[in-house]
Amino acid sequence: MDILSALSAARLVPVVVLDDAADADALAGALVAGGLPVAEVTFRTAAAQDAIRAMAARGDILVGAGTILTVEQVDQAVAAGASYVVSPGLSRAVVERCQELGVLALPGAVTATEIQAALKFGLTTVKFFPAGTSGGAAAIAALAAPFVGVQFVPTGGVGPKNLHEYLAIPSVAAVGGSWMVPRDRVKAGDFAGITELTAQAVALAARP
Ligand code: 3PG
Repeated sequence: MDILSALSAARLVPVVVLDDAADADALAGALVAGGLPVAEVTFRTAAAQDAIRAMAARGDILVGAGTILTVEQVDQAVAAGASYVVSPGLSRAVVERCQELGVLALPGAVTATEIQAALKFGLTTVKFFPAGTSGGAAAIAALAAPFVGVQFVPTGGVGPKNLHEYLAIPSVAAVGGSWMVPRDRVKAGDFAGITELTAQAVALAARP
């Protein structure tokens, strides 16, 4: 299965901020136990590269890198084993580096102009970020009309109360968010709590 198919099958992408790479293995285990073998580990902390390496080494979870802003970060993420690269916006340098390395790029795009720019790179799936303040599900539904074939991964302000609004749109491949992996729970070592939050999210996202 390719990466996009795997993300669409999961319907959910947990956005992870790890302060200590030593927690990466247990966190991955908690997500897998909750029925969601997917993670987007953000380059917002210095632990990101080591965390990706530890998660990817398990072999039971699809690990991507998030908040990728530079070519150097693409290199670090891919060297650590990331199989997809997510960015908050669209950077030519980042997308081209991903394509050189043969790794899926998932850049942010929330306007028609940004989506057209992504299409020029041959991309047909974009992150829709920040979803909540960019018009939410109604904006995606409106953009989906002209952009037939484009898939969206809305992230930012998505949670248990509104994920169904997004997932009801056929062109939404998956939704992303941090609510399943609260940073304070990771810090506290509450991996059972993360498994519970993840299992609840998986149940909510299940196809009817
Ligand atoms: C992201 O990088 O995708 C967002 O920070 C996640 O947004 P959320 O915290 O509102 O889920």
